[in-house]
Amino acid sequence: MMISIDQPASTWIPGPILGIETSCDETAASALAADGSVLSNVIASQHDVHQRFGGVVPELASRAHVESIERVSATALQQAGLAWTDLAGIAVTQGPGLAGALLVGVNYAKALAYALNIPVVGVSHLEGHIASAWLKDPAFPLPCVVLVVSGGHTHLYYKDRSGHRRLLGATRDDAAGEAFDKGAQLLGLEFPGGPAIDRLARQGNPDTIAFPRSYLQNGSHEFSFSGLKTALLYRLQAMDEQSRVANVADLAAGYQEAIVSVLVEKSFTAVRSSGARALAVVGGVSANSRLRALLQARATSESLQLSLPPLSYCTDNAAMIAAAGRQALCAGFRASWDMDANASLSRLIGLFGLFCLFG
Ligand code: KG4
Ligand code: ZN
Repeated sequence: MMISIDQPASTWIPGPILGIETSCDETAASALAADGSVLSNVIASQHDVHQRFGGVVPELASRAHVESIERVSATALQQAGLAWTDLAGIAVTQGPGLAGALLVGVNYAKALAYALNIPVVGVSHLEGHIASAWLKDPAFPLPCVVLVVSGGHTHLYYKDRSGHRRLLGATRDDAAGEAFDKGAQLLGLEFPGGPAIDRLARQGNPDTIAFPRSYLQNGSHEFSFSGLKTALLYRLQAMDEQSRVANVADLAAGYQEAIVSVLVEKSFTAVRSSGARALAVVGGVSANSRLRALLQARATSESLQLSLPPLSYCTDNAAMIAAAGRQALCAGFRASWDMDANASLSRLIGLFGLFCLFG
């Protein structure tokens, strides 16, 4: 019988884990070995399904997850050289995300765990992104500062020696990924906007068209990107069609620079003020090539250790969910069979800390 979240179970004997992620528009499954190393990382993207709508359509996302989840999970096991019966546990994203999309993963994970008679844990998607910083380098040091930059989050944390997190600051309005996506939409680029701006900006000059950078007040760990989006809108409105087309690469480069320079500046300010000597940057926006280059250059010049996960661990994936779930299972946590998807799980994060998120 499964044990509920408030009753930590007896010691879990580490074995292979299957991670499942269906919070938004990627159906993903990943198998970890008993020692936590990644054996497979399978991602079925739904970009083609949503592209013509210019954003993720929740109902279509749920349907696409239903269609793919069995195949993606079986492929993850096959690539890992595992049989279903080799699994010792299952980790699934419980939230935050799209309710209907999360439900597919949570119910599939529970059914699988029940059939195999193994434990299942629900994992916060945010916790998964944070865990991705240690996937490639399990020895990455603590204490460190973690910047989570995705479509829904722009959060700076301090993670102390024992792994506990303290929120230093977050965005007051749009997340960095949202700023990329909305900017791309204004520029008439394809969905998803972040990678489209990243590609186009390589052909432009970031200094030709300057955009405002919002640092709020000195030393603040908070972010704000809504003014930047408005600045782009006004710029475009002041241009005729011909000059919009002629300057689109410079516009993309200038807009991107305004986002990434603030992310870099604030991350390093947080590192300095917290006394940490290491910085991890995770989430979809950490795939941005300009952000990665600036972070790497600055880390080298300041002799800081930097964790920038490989691209396949930046955007949504299940290896990060399996890794966070493994920590929870090792700590004795199990979900009860009535575990439900929780679309707004992030609100709990600041309140309770690390392990109560696994329920
Ligand atoms: O982590 P993620 O895959 O999903 C969420 O948890 O939100 O992040 C998605 C976000 C999107 O806003 C997407 O445009 C952005 O990450 N993104 C990028 C890049 N790749 C993905 N933003 C800038 N440059 C990229 N190369
Ligand atoms: Zn994500």
